[in-house]
Amino acid sequence: MSKVYVHPLPVRIWHWANVILFIGLVVTGVQVRYLDLVDLMPFQTAVMLHNWVGFALIANFFVWLLFYLFSERNQAYHPELNIVKLANASFEQAKYYGWGMFRGEHNPHRIDPYHKFNPLQRTLYQILMLFLLPMQFATGLLMWDIKRFSAVIEMVGGLRVVSTVHVLIFIFFVFYLFFHPYLATLGHTPTAHIRAMVTGFEDVEDEPAAPAAS
Ligand code: HEM
Repeated sequence: MSKVYVHPLPVRIWHWANVILFIGLVVTGVQVRYLDLVDLMPFQTAVMLHNWVGFALIANFFVWLLFYLFSERNQAYHPELNIVKLANASFEQAKYYGWGMFRGEHNPHRIDPYHKFNPLQRTLYQILMLFLLPMQFATGLLMWDIKRFSAVIEMVGGLRVVSTVHVLIFIFFVFYLFFHPYLATLGHTPTAHIRAMVTGFEDVEDEPAAPAAS
């Protein structure tokens, strides 16, 4: 095994701050939306906390965005434009997660600093960071001040559309909060990927030695 530096400091700071803020948003969001079912704090407190934590999450997102905009490590997020290649690699990876992993096969993806994500992770993180999170920020911002943004809200179909999109993405993120940490335990030890998100260094299996020429 050798150590490869895959998560630079700004990404690690962003990630763990993101986790804490996310949990805060889920708890306060549940209180705001399901007032009749939960009673963790007064409604007004939940609304105020949800707004502040939401703004902190948006600010934190810019740590991630600015880092990748100005770092060549953004190659980890470059899309694979060859659809056949992407489909084959994704299928191989899914086969490994669903079958090979339980039979002790090797992970088909080899990590390097510029390609730290396997094809499934890369697609998921692209959708998450470049579509779902910005969409959640935008809908949240519109509902934060419905008077000020009334023209935009009308333009996109009304408050019901905006709040439905916000809640649907919220439900996706609640599921994500379970399956993402589970997938994070599938390294060569259950804590290997999580430790890597703390130290920056991922353990990578050494390439098998090439057979000696005769
Ligand atoms: C307890 C909760 C969490 C744990 C244990 C966890 C763990 C990890 C680990 C180990 C990685 C490294 C790469 C990988 O294995 O996929 C990672 C990456 C990532 N996580 Fe999480 N995570 C958590 C919550 C979240 C949440 C709530 C989000 C919401 C957006 C998130 C978004 C991401 C993204 C986008 C990456 C890729 C970051 C990059 O390198 O650019 N994670 N996470």
